Amino acid sequence: MYALVFRLLFCRMDPERAHHLAFAWIRLAARVPVLRTFAAAFLAPRRKELRVEALGLRMHGPLGLAAGFDKNATGVDGMAMLGFDHVEVGTVTGHAQPGNPRKRLFRLVQDRALINRMGFNNDGAAAVAARLAARRAVFRTTVGVNIGKTKAVPEEGAVADYVASAGALARHADYLVVNVSSPNTPGLRNLQATEALRPLLTAVREAADRTVPERRVPLLVKIAPDLADADVDAVADLAVELGVDGIIATNTTVAREGLGLRGDPRTVVETGGLSGAPLKERSLTVLRRLYARVGDRLTLVGAGGVTTADDAWERILAGATLVQGYSAFVYEGPLWMRGLHRGLAERLAASPYATLAEAVGAEHRKVTA
Ligand SMILES: Cc1cc2nc3c(=O)[nH]c(=O)nc-3n(C[C@H](O)[C@H](O)[C@H](O)COP(=O)(O)O)c2cc1C
Repeated sequence: MYALVFRLLFCRMDPERAHHLAFAWIRLAARVPVLRTFAAAFLAPRRKELRVEALGLRMHGPLGLAAGFDKNATGVDGMAMLGFDHVEVGTVTGHAQPGNPRKRLFRLVQDRALINRMGFNNDGAAAVAARLAARRAVFRTTVGVNIGKTKAVPEEGAVADYVASAGALARHADYLVVNVSSPNTPGLRNLQATEALRPLLTAVREAADRTVPERRVPLLVKIAPDLADADVDAVADLAVELGVDGIIATNTTVAREGLGLRGDPRTVVETGGLSGAPLKERSLTVLRRLYARVGDRLTLVGAGGVTTADDAWERILAGATLVQGYSAFVYEGPLWMRGLHRGLAERLAASPYATLAEAVGAEHRKVTA
C-alpha cells in the first residue's frame, strides 16, 4: 500500500514537498484521539524484551528517528505514534534561519538513498524551546535535541552559538546532541578537530549544567562518516576524557565514489550529504571502530543506512545501544518501525543473549579459536 502511495504520489512530487505533506498527515492523525490510539496500538506495540536503559533513561526500545526529519519539534507525538522509541529533533541553531535555496533534497530511488543540502532550516532555539515547553505529551517517548551552528555566525562565534542553544533547550531535552558533522554548513565539520571540539563540548556541558542544575542532561556528539580512522579515535578518546555520554555514528557522507550508486548521474553529482543504503557499510565500520576503542564507556548510537531488522541487529552486535534511521523511513513508510521491532525481537529470541543489553558489542567478545 505504501509502495503504491510512494510511487504514484510522493515520487511525482518534489521530495521536500512530499516530506511536508507526509509529515502533516502524521501530525494530523496524532491529533485525532481515536485515530492515534488505533494507529499506535497497531504500529507501536510495546515489547517488554526490547526495553532498554540508555543514557540513564528508560526507553521502550532501541530504535529512534534520526535528526533532520522533525527539525522544529512539531511532530514528536506523531512519530512516537509510528513506533519510534526516541525522537531526535533538530538540528536547531541559535538563530532561526531559512536554510539553503531550494531545490535541496533529492531522491536516489534505485539506490534507496537521499542527497540533502538543507542547511539547517529551522525556527531557532528560542522558538523550538517554547514549543517543547508547551508540549503536552500524548505518547511517552524519549526526546533528544540536536543542536548546530547558525550559518551566519562565524567559526570564532561557534561556541557561543551552541551555548545559547544549549541554554535554551537543555531543560526540554532528555538528551542533547552536539552536531558537528553536517556537510551543509560551511566549516561546521572543522569543529570535529579535537582542538575545536574540546572547548565546544566543555562549554555546552557547562551550559547544560548551569541551566538545568537539578538534572544531568546526557550529552552526545554526532560525527561524520568521512572522518579518517585516526580522527574517529581522537574524537572517541576526547569524549571519554571529557565525560561526554555518547557518540552518534554517523551523519550523512560527502563521498560518492565506491558506493555503487546506480541512480541518475545528474542527481548523484548534486552536492550535499548522502544518506540511506549506500552509507551502511561506512557507518557500520565507524561504529565498530568506536566500540573497539571505547567499549561501554560511551553510549554508541548507530545511524546510517539502517533499513532491516538485520541491519539494526548488526549495529547492536557491533556496539550500538541505540539505533537511528531516517532515509529508510521515507522508502518503507509507516509500517517500518512495526516490522523492525518484530524482527529485532525475533533475532534476540533466537540469539544466545537474554537481553538487548547483553547483545550490545557482542561481536567484539567472540572468542576466535
Ligand atoms: C533530509 C535530511 C535532513 C537531515 N538533517 C539533519 C540534521 O538537521 N541534523 C543531523 O544531525 N542530521 C541530519 N540528517 C542526517 C540523519 O540524521 C542521519 O544521520 C543520516 O541520514 C543517516 O541515516 P539514514 O541513512 O538512516 O538516513 C539529515 C538527513 C536527511 C536525509
